[in-house]
Amino acid sequence: MDAIRVRGGAVLKGRVRVSGAKNAALPILCATLLSDGESHLRNVPALRDIDTTAALLRFLGRGVSVNAPDVTVAAGKDVRPEAPYELVKQMRASVLVLGPLLARFGRAKVSLPGGCAIGARPIDQHLKALEAMGAKITLERGYVLAEGPNGGGQLRGAEIVFDMPTVTGTENVMMAAALAKGRSILVNCAREPEVEELGRILNKMGAKVNGAGTDVMHIEGVTPGDLLPFDHAIIPDRIEAGTYMVAAAMTEGSDVILEGAEIGDLEALVAKMRQAGVIIDAEGRDIRVRRTGPIRPVNVTTAPHPGFPTDMQAQFMVLMCTAAGESVITETIFENRFMHVPELLRMGANIALRGNTAVVDGVKKMYGASVMATDLRASASLIIAGLFSEDETEVRRVYHLDRGYEHIEAKLGGLGAKVERVRNAES
Ligand code: EPZ
Repeated sequence: MDAIRVRGGAVLKGRVRVSGAKNAALPILCATLLSDGESHLRNVPALRDIDTTAALLRFLGRGVSVNAPDVTVAAGKDVRPEAPYELVKQMRASVLVLGPLLARFGRAKVSLPGGCAIGARPIDQHLKALEAMGAKITLERGYVLAEGPNGGGQLRGAEIVFDMPTVTGTENVMMAAALAKGRSILVNCAREPEVEELGRILNKMGAKVNGAGTDVMHIEGVTPGDLLPFDHAIIPDRIEAGTYMVAAAMTEGSDVILEGAEIGDLEALVAKMRQAGVIIDAEGRDIRVRRTGPIRPVNVTTAPHPGFPTDMQAQFMVLMCTAAGESVITETIFENRFMHVPELLRMGANIALRGNTAVVDGVKKMYGASVMATDLRASASLIIAGLFSEDETEVRRVYHLDRGYEHIEAKLGGLGAKVERVRNAES
């Protein structure tokens, strides 16, 4: 397994291009199941999760060619509505084929995603909503077996109220409702920019989705076969942008331009970074980040969008490890998203965990160490901690990182950071 070595202390200067949003590309690639013909997706990041989704679509019978940043998906002769465990276990978001397969082909067999490092990650909300639309759902030997009404018929529009905002739950139901008979009303939807982007794509295909990006959506189903292929360039990745924003804040004197970043998608993070003393300015379609003085401690509680993103919690915690004082970070979305804490403690951080709250006491120095990546965003936080520490840090098992960060060592290196990838390092 590869590792990434970081030698800390460099001041970061220059420009870095933000890639397309992984969590927009994944549902949109699954939406290609709703139509025939050839769809083109542009500004797609070169990531493992994209390759996994392409493999899944090929397994289902689609012709997929990935030449990042372009991906083309063409309908095959027929479809095999089954997502096997071997593929779903690599990426939970594979569950996003459930809604489109059921809506378009009347049946689907999708492996239950199982938990992951950050939590149990159930899909009860997805299944409850599809049942309300007339689907017959049974769970058998780790698989979800789903069938449209009357042995595979068309889903029916329904009123769906989510118990909590769920990003992929909202996305699965949007795609199912797009081809259901009649109107669906979705209440307590996730409001992430990636959900809004999926709504844009579905409407480009000929669906009738109103309210994507807000907590209530009205969707008028259209006739299966009426949705058309699309050509679309996806939105920038706000979490990748936020990650580089924090990286730029780690060393005094850094001055970094994030090219193509959308500051409107990062309001909660930007507010907290500014409160911490980081200078952040929107410059046209870019964001400029400057670290000119000490970092002030700031309390943060994660929340569904537009609140502070859980996907930025680990990275922001690292910044707070260097603050002049105590900050309290509360994780409300996932039950086990502090896996980066033990690794940061080994680097000299001062963090006390109390349930879903971390009390962080800033330190003047952190020390390089060999640390273990556990999940996508925790891995990024360890790289960022390496930028601050006095000597060398080796982050192992970076396959987690490669799922969500395109060319991270080249991008950080381009800003002056001393970062290198070590192939087949000791894991
Ligand atoms: C999406 O995951 C993202 N993944 C995650 O990003 C992100 O952390 C998460 O949303 C929260 O913002 C993709 O978009 C591919 P949820 P998702 O359903 O949809 C509970 C990354 O780093 N829940 O919004 O799986 C759930 O347990 C990844 O790129 C149920 O109880 O998250 C959690 O506590 C990590 N039942 C909360 O809702 C359900 O049926 C929010 O989860 C569904 C969710």
